[in-house]
Amino acid sequence: MIQMAPSILSADFSRLGEQVKLVEEAGAEVLHIDIMDGHFVPNLTFGPALVKSIRDHSRMRFDVHLMVEKPENFIKDFAAAGADHITFHLETTPHVHRVIQQIKEQGMTAGIALNPATPLDGLKYILEDLDMVLLMTVNPGYGGQKFIPHVIPKIQVLHHHLEQKQSSCLIEVDGGINLETASVVAKAGAHILVAGAAVFAQPDPQQALKSIRQAASVK
Ligand code: DX5
Ligand code: ZN
Repeated sequence: MIQMAPSILSADFSRLGEQVKLVEEAGAEVLHIDIMDGHFVPNLTFGPALVKSIRDHSRMRFDVHLMVEKPENFIKDFAAAGADHITFHLETTPHVHRVIQQIKEQGMTAGIALNPATPLDGLKYILEDLDMVLLMTVNPGYGGQKFIPHVIPKIQVLHHHLEQKQSSCLIEVDGGINLETASVVAKAGAHILVAGAAVFAQPDPQQALKSIRQAASVK
């Protein structure tokens, strides 16, 4: 079953608590929280204090997407703030195994994100330790960008590989997911769909979320 992960990057920050409740009531399983450091990506967003401030407003799983250099420096703080899951980018550290262990030691599940141009090869000796792989379908840094279709074969190959291994590792896709692309990525094998602008920038975010889920569920 497809899980929906609305990204608060496109939410109305002046009433963030309400926006979080809105998507939870519409059935979202996961809240996607984009952390950017102005170094790995050319944009800045939130820190652990924001995660802590919305934790009491929601029972959704908090999926923290770290787009930061030195991800190891931030794990404890996001765990303390109430994160359930942390994904970091393969491109940001040579110590991939160590960072995964650090995330798990804090009682969270762990994921690795790959930029559109990064091949799957780097996952080869680490896949069994992962709860999730996040395949970026835009270049990370901003909401509301256009879906990059070259990532579709990468989703298919990873899905096939995980099925062969009977792995419980989930595939999340992030960037440019909307009514049209949701169905394409779901058919390719994605399990969790991140959607920012296609949910929060719509007149009715609840209906938008439900429609994207429905589009993804049609086989
Ligand atoms: C982009 C972020 C995404 C972003 C997606 O770097 O990782 O999570 O919020 O936004 P949309 O769905 O608008 O492309
Ligand atoms: Zn993200």
